[in-house]
Amino acid sequence: MSKLIVLSNRVSLPNPDKTTAGGLAVALQDALNDIGGIWLGWNGEKIKNHQEPYFSSTEYKGVEYITTPLTEEQYSGYYCGFANRTLWPAMHDRADLIEYQPEEFKTYQDVNRLFAQQLSEVAHPDDIIWVHDYHFFSVARYCRELGMQNRIGFFLHIPFAGSNIWNLIPTAQTIIQDLCHYDVVGLQTEYDQKQCMDVCHHFLASQVIDSNVLSYNLRQITIQCYPIGINPELIQKVAQQKLENSHPVFEFDDLADQKTIISVDRIDYSKGLIERFNAFEEFLKEYPEYHKHVTDLQIACPCRMDIPAYKNLYDLIDSKVELINQEFSQDNWQPINCTNETVEHGALMKIYRQSDICWVNSLRDGMNLVAKEFIAAQNPNNPGVLILSKYTGAAEQMSEAIIVDPENCGDMVKGLKKALTMSRSERIERYKHLMQGLKRFDINDWRNAFLKDLRRVELFNIFKPSMRKTYNHRAHQQIYT
Ligand code: G6P
Repeated sequence: MSKLIVLSNRVSLPNPDKTTAGGLAVALQDALNDIGGIWLGWNGEKIKNHQEPYFSSTEYKGVEYITTPLTEEQYSGYYCGFANRTLWPAMHDRADLIEYQPEEFKTYQDVNRLFAQQLSEVAHPDDIIWVHDYHFFSVARYCRELGMQNRIGFFLHIPFAGSNIWNLIPTAQTIIQDLCHYDVVGLQTEYDQKQCMDVCHHFLASQVIDSNVLSYNLRQITIQCYPIGINPELIQKVAQQKLENSHPVFEFDDLADQKTIISVDRIDYSKGLIERFNAFEEFLKEYPEYHKHVTDLQIACPCRMDIPAYKNLYDLIDSKVELINQEFSQDNWQPINCTNETVEHGALMKIYRQSDICWVNSLRDGMNLVAKEFIAAQNPNNPGVLILSKYTGAAEQMSEAIIVDPENCGDMVKGLKKALTMSRSERIERYKHLMQGLKRFDINDWRNAFLKDLRRVELFNIFKPSMRKTYNHRAHQQIYT
């Protein structure tokens, strides 16, 4: 029987001791449990360059987890290099931060080939392969070179840049060519879907069959939007549960007379953290009557600290928070309470339910699940308000949030004032619409829609092995000559 094989850079190993309320990891685990399968990826560890990467396997509830460490060189060239210093800023429209090194691109390709080789060792011809995110644009191309004819899908969790940005990457054409070895390419929003179609057409002069199908080099590629969702019912339940033995990150009892704003972000320049703090500072200047009555709660998770742009941002945020607190603190009141702690998912849902406002301020974001989870965690009789940047994928579906421009300080200050003064009836009205939207297309619908399209692929993309060989040979030549 055909099984599902998931490939992602990070692998979420199941932890039987921890409760979790859905999320991408659980949706993929559910799919793997249902039909049986394998989850493949990096184990998060580094080994010395002279050591050979090795894949090891562990099984849990019928799912096999196969992971490998990366050598220091792979970690630096593939993960810190081409993935996070070239592709990440590019896809988030940060032309100013794009760095490109040919040797890093080569390492990225080598790591993509390494995972393709591992896929070829574990996959049977009728298995379905689902590859996730920008770390693996080129995996399908190497799978095809190894003779694999499996249905291979790719889902990009982050935005897809336009041709103007792709043009800044010297090897853009190769990457786009590689992408077209997938059978189904999934994007978060209609906007990204259109950008992807346009970019493929621009670089490859591929034939457009219809608004979501391209034909290139004897293959048809479905390019479709699948907005990722959450499990709203489960989150609603978890947000109400009592938490045993966990120490609270924020003392809500001490904040009882405060309006609270929660933000949860990785410390990443795409999240608009500094812009948000600037706007909050401006708000406190403009509305002194809110001093001692509003507290900003920030969970800021450090990540990718080996990349200078991330380390610099970490330091910048630290000093910005300190500066605002120094300027405005009075008596026991401190306007910003920022923690770098990692908060367990259940505890986070409780924090969402206890907060009055959630403020998501990304300058560019694939979807942003914080926005969706915040809404799902609310008390339906007294829900909080969501302030949402217009540049998140979520804004395409959550128009009942207070939509703000994260680059316009005045607009954000106005949005915050509106959130703080919104009547209970309006909050309930907005919440109802938002919750309906979350239930209409949840995380399982997302997964099922993608896999359904991938399964349909055999209707048009199966070639005779001999044809595939000729085609691979030509594609290979085209890339290197
Ligand atoms: C984004 C990406 C994911 C990535 C995550 C954390 O959400 O889309 O692929 O895993 O950030 O980043 P990290 O570099 O720590 O894996």
